[in-house]
Amino acid sequence: MGKKSSKWFKAHINDEFVKLANKENWRSRAVFKLKEIDEKYNLIKTNSKILDLGCSPGGWSQYASRKHKNINITAVDLLCMEKLENVNFVQSDIEDFSEKYLKNADFHKIDLVMSDIAPNISGIESADAAAGLHLAEIVTEIALDVLNDSGNLLIKLFQGKGTDEFLSEIRKLFGTVRIIKPKASKTNSREIYMLATNMKINNSGLHYE
Ligand SMILES: C[S@@+](CC[C@H](N)C(=O)[O-])C[C@H]1O[C@@H](n2cnc3c(N)ncnc32)[C@H](O)[C@@H]1O
Repeated sequence: MGKKSSKWFKAHINDEFVKLANKENWRSRAVFKLKEIDEKYNLIKTNSKILDLGCSPGGWSQYASRKHKNINITAVDLLCMEKLENVNFVQSDIEDFSEKYLKNADFHKIDLVMSDIAPNISGIESADAAAGLHLAEIVTEIALDVLNDSGNLLIKLFQGKGTDEFLSEIRKLFGTVRIIKPKASKTNSREIYMLATNMKINNSGLHYE
C-alpha cells in the first residue's frame, strides 16, 4: 500500500461514521447524511414512493426500507447492488434509465427523488464540477417528470463553477430550496446537499401558480 492510500485507509477506519455504520450494519457511511436530513425534514414516510438515483452500495435505500416496511423504492446505479427488501433495483446509467423506463406508470407520482450520485473524479476541478452539474441536471429533469405535486427532490452537489446558476434555476421550479451540509459530509469536501420542496409546476410542465 502506498503512503497516500495507507493514510486514507487509516483515516477511513478511524472515521466515527464508518465505525457506526459497521456497528449498526449499514451498507455505507453515507446513510448518516440521509438520516440527518430525514430526521429534520421527514422525507421518508410510510407508503412513500421513492426513486434513489446513484444508489450503490445501497445505504440510502437500506435506510428508507428499514424506516418503513410499507415503502416502494426504485434504486438505480451503474454498479450492481445486493438485494434489499422493498427495493426494485435497476442497473443503468441514469441517462439511459430516463429514456428507457420513465414512460412506465410505475415510475410516476413519486414522493421523493433522492440522488447521492458522484461522478468519477478526474482531479481537474473544472471538469469535475461540470460532470457533477450535468448529472444534477439529469436528476432534476427526471424529478420534474415523475414527482407528484407535493414531491421532494434531494440532490448531492459539488460546489463550484455553475452551482449558483443551477440553484437559481431550481428556485424557479420549487418554492423552497435548502442547502444542507450534514455532519457526516466531510468539512474539506465541496459536497453539499440541496433539498427542494413545494414544486411550482405540475408533471406536465405547466405552471399552476
Ligand atoms: C456516493 S455513491 C452512493 C452511495 C449511496 N447513497 C449509499 O448510501 O450507499 C455514488 C454512486 O453514484 C453512481 N453513479 C455515478 N454516475 C452514475 C450514473 N451516470 N448513473 C447511475 N449511477 C451513477 C456510482 O456508481 C456510485 O455508486
